[in-house]
Amino acid sequence: CGIVGYVGSRPALDVVVEGLARLEYRGYDSAGVALLAEDGTLATAKRAGKLVNLREALAEEPPPAGTLGMGHTRWATHGAPNDRNAHPHTDCGGTIAVIHNGIIENFAALRAELEEGGHKLASDTDTETVAHLLEDELKSGGTLADAMRAVCRRLEGAFTLVAVHAGDPDLVVGARRNSPLVVGVGDGENFLASDVAAFIEHTRDALELGQDQVVELRPSGVTVTDFDGAPATVREYHVDWDVSAAEKGGYDYFMLKEIAEQPRAVADTLLGRIGADGRLSLDEMRISDQALREVDKVVIVACGTANHAGLIAKYAIEHWAGLPCEVELAHEFRYRDPILSRNTLVIAISQSGETMDTLMAVRHAREQHAKVLGVCNVNGSTLPRECDGVLYTHAGPEIAVASTKAFLTQLVAVYLIALYLAQVRGTKWGDEVFAMIQLLAQMPDKVEKVLETMGPVRDLARSLADAPSVLFLGRHVGFPVALEGALKLKELAYMHAEGFAAGELKHGPIALIEEGLPVIVVVPPRARAVLHDKIVSNIQEIRARGARTIVIAEEGDDAVRPYADTLIEVPAVPTLLQPLVTTVPLQVFACELATAKGHDVDQPRNLAKSVTVE
Ligand code: G6P
Repeated sequence: CGIVGYVGSRPALDVVVEGLARLEYRGYDSAGVALLAEDGTLATAKRAGKLVNLREALAEEPPPAGTLGMGHTRWATHGAPNDRNAHPHTDCGGTIAVIHNGIIENFAALRAELEEGGHKLASDTDTETVAHLLEDELKSGGTLADAMRAVCRRLEGAFTLVAVHAGDPDLVVGARRNSPLVVGVGDGENFLASDVAAFIEHTRDALELGQDQVVELRPSGVTVTDFDGAPATVREYHVDWDVSAAEKGGYDYFMLKEIAEQPRAVADTLLGRIGADGRLSLDEMRISDQALREVDKVVIVACGTANHAGLIAKYAIEHWAGLPCEVELAHEFRYRDPILSRNTLVIAISQSGETMDTLMAVRHAREQHAKVLGVCNVNGSTLPRECDGVLYTHAGPEIAVASTKAFLTQLVAVYLIALYLAQVRGTKWGDEVFAMIQLLAQMPDKVEKVLETMGPVRDLARSLADAPSVLFLGRHVGFPVALEGALKLKELAYMHAEGFAAGELKHGPIALIEEGLPVIVVVPPRARAVLHDKIVSNIQEIRARGARTIVIAEEGDDAVRPYADTLIEVPAVPTLLQPLVTTVPLQVFACELATAKGHDVDQPRNLAKSVTVE
């Protein structure tokens, strides 16, 4: 869910609704606002569906003007995504409004207690219980912030809460546990939001709230305490991108813009990390070289697209660094008994730094004394704080729900880690490692070249808009690329799509091949003759059975040409780096196919960009 709070001197409704527009990628099942007029009148408005529905309702019936407000855009967890369950929720008296992100696990018990006490609850949500609990607390005196602290002490689960009270029309109160909330510090005005995108056009000065903290926001300043009321310290930081990065800049969709930004994003992630002597310097990682030399195993945890980056990292880490490497979906890792030690390096990959499954996996690993390194795109998010060290991807804000530029920069980050491990540990591949570092620097140009040749891929995608299913095949690092290609198509086009290891084909999936079925095959470079020749055989096998073969291969690969119904050529790069160029056509393919079907590629149905619940 996306959360915005504002107090200052501007019309709060505008600030809040524009903030919600920037956060809508976090959830779009419903949206709502609460506004407090100076005379203490509290007004709320909420609508199921995307923000546009709320905007229409507000235009029809404008709420009273005020300079304090908050808003919410929801990704439904408790209760259906309808008007009634949309946030904000209010207490019985209608003087307190609350918005919430996360899940309050003990809400059923709290709700029963409230109902016994005579409270009438209007929705099915866990959030509404908080409004009523605050109401009870306020009856015993104290401020809204005191009441919030008392209520938070009773809540179990993960939550960001923001509340306003008609009795204090100068105050917005926020609280966080295991769920994102940042403060934007302005001049005579202050902001609260799930992420900085919501207030970036007003201020780039931010405060990172810690775990179990309550923040009081007034026009004159910001106070932060823990749940017991003791003053808390918070980290101040300056956001290094501006509002233009969070806007579409002439593209129809953020996703198109983000695909196009990939050469720059890759370059930014490399920036400052390759020294003049051709060696890597990753001091910012905060894990010492000595500790890296002691590592005897790497475990990667992540979800979704980030997990695919992890699967590719495994090939790079095993090859260059000579270390055993396992890759785990974070939510599976978390509930197993993984064998970890002080010498295990756990790498947690997350664009948002807020994916709850990944955060829980990190905690699980640290409890067992493993060293944890985060790969993250969002400064000020939770993941970097919970890890021993962090390597930031510098993709800039990624707004479209389906990850593109963040994925490519995650690949760059894991290549850097693999090569750095090799550099500090010294492996038999010393020369290759040195050469690879130089080649990495050429990758922005190679990605740019791929983007320049995407016209035929778009045509192909439009021609396949009615295909019932698309299969993706790859070998080696091409296998996770196939998985990513299939995921993109599921996410965006709502089509059946599967990625397979090409070697697995004969063990089952080949039964799916029928006349005309589109199969996209990612072909390794010719230099890896064994892999290359095997996949050429696989292409022949499926073509013989009627598949329509769409082949992604390096330029000049004449061996695949006779078997490709469509050939998509990408620049020649070493095998391990090839995902940087082979993924791009698959992103473009899925995006174009989904738009041909009339879907909103920025906000695919049922999804949210950052899933802050387990
Ligand atoms: C959600 C998004 C995916 C994303 C995954 C992991 O499921 O819809 O696109 O890959 O979360 O997100 P993260 O922020 O941890 O990389």
